[in-house]
Amino acid sequence: MKPDVIVAGKLYARTQERMDQEFTCHKMYEAADRGAFLKQCAGMRALATFGPAGADAKLMDALPKLEIISNFGVGVDAIDLDAAKQRKIVVTNTPDVLNDCVADTAMALTVNVMRRFPQAEVYLRAGSWAAKGAYPLTTSLGGKTMGILGLGRIGEAIARRAQAFGMQIRYHNRRKKNVAYPYDADPVALAKNSDVLMVVTPGGAATDKLVSAKVLDALGPQGYLVNIARGSVVDEPVLLKYLQEKKIAGAGLDVFADEPRVPPEFFGLENAVLLPHVGSATVETRTAMGNLQVDNLVAHFAGKPVLTRVV
Ligand code: 8YV
Repeated sequence: MKPDVIVAGKLYARTQERMDQEFTCHKMYEAADRGAFLKQCAGMRALATFGPAGADAKLMDALPKLEIISNFGVGVDAIDLDAAKQRKIVVTNTPDVLNDCVADTAMALTVNVMRRFPQAEVYLRAGSWAAKGAYPLTTSLGGKTMGILGLGRIGEAIARRAQAFGMQIRYHNRRKKNVAYPYDADPVALAKNSDVLMVVTPGGAATDKLVSAKVLDALGPQGYLVNIARGSVVDEPVLLKYLQEKKIAGAGLDVFADEPRVPPEFFGLENAVLLPHVGSATVETRTAMGNLQVDNLVAHFAGKPVLTRVV
């Protein structure tokens, strides 16, 4: 008999295939009556969830036999970790396998927001090159400073790429790290010393609206903001206002406060490059993330230590 796993949200097809090989899956997202579904699943020991779906205390209460929550994604901000700890539920995520892809996305946003390549392409496609002449000059990356807010494993992968583009790196973390990059004591100081503020911190209460008006003021009218972390880390209405009023030079955003609902006022901004949370969205990376999500469940049911435990 295959072990039972509750699946919170639609999985990537390859991940679902592997999940079906190993487990009997109970798809919560297909249940017409969530209450009845949870009653049926009340004796089950494992939940597979993903980024935005997470798992709250109410869900954990409805599943009193739950032993493991296996998350697809490195960010576990939508999982109530304290509630999981109290109930001795193991939580796993999918770190490392996505570092390169997310770092590539961070650099693509940096290049695109500073060099305005998406806008230049729209210009060409509209026939404006022949009609109006050369596209206006933009801003170089080389020689500029990238300030990384949250120098973890993804942040370090971004730093290596940015250095290859000729940029200098600085950073702010809650704790200073043993790295060669200069450290700034707070986000305002980092923004003040940076041309590009790269947001890579985890989401959650500790970083909620960390990038405030004060931070954006410090970044200033020549500064760019890039966010590949979580929309919650930035005060989004303030960011929108600052972009509209050109109080910062531009923003490259892969994440938003209330995904997939992006405030439509962003769509018309000519100084923003916007992506629909595709940081890790390649076949290779999503396959690796899904395999890790499944491997954690397999290890747990085999009575072995999970591979990537959060709590
Ligand atoms: C995923 C992410 O898109 O890993 C994360 O935390 O935000 C992304 O890689 C997301 O988790 C998919 O659900």
